[in-house]
Amino acid sequence: MQKKYEFEYELVDHAGLLSIADQALLKAAIKATETAYAPYSNFKVGAAACLSTGQIVIGSNQESASFPVGICAERTLLNSIGSQYPAATIIAMAVSYDPFNKPSTVPISPCGMCRQSLLDYENRYQAPIKMILAGKTGPVMVLPTAAHLLPFGFDGSILK
Ligand code: THU
Repeated sequence: MQKKYEFEYELVDHAGLLSIADQALLKAAIKATETAYAPYSNFKVGAAACLSTGQIVIGSNQESASFPVGICAERTLLNSIGSQYPAATIIAMAVSYDPFNKPSTVPISPCGMCRQSLLDYENRYQAPIKMILAGKTGPVMVLPTAAHLLPFGFDGSILK
């Protein structure tokens, strides 16, 4: 049996076309790049999440002299939320980046480990996380759920 997997997402020309709330979240993600510790890659990533409480929480990539120990902005943020606001649901997350001396004009795409972690949080709270992916300028991708980023992801249900 032949099957097909597809999903819908929005691609908007520039951030000014987003809702006011999404614009604010993306702005917070861009600002969060300033808190990145990325002396090895010089690629600063910022993430911002909007919680069910209305709070906006930020995270950024934190690198290590032992490279694999470094952690991406998205997982820094998710784990921080899981620790500090375990009762809150994540409504949306915006991610952006500032590459040293290079343009930041196309949407960033989260790495595989972050996609797993995003899926884990969606399953943990049984709520979709709207993903807003962008550079500092340029088009913005908006996905209704992080699950779209990881088709056939491992959701742990098989462990039960
Ligand atoms: N990085 C993130 O923080 N998020 C992503 O979505 C992609 C990559 C970080 C990891 C590393 O510190 C640097 O960017 C270069 O890969």
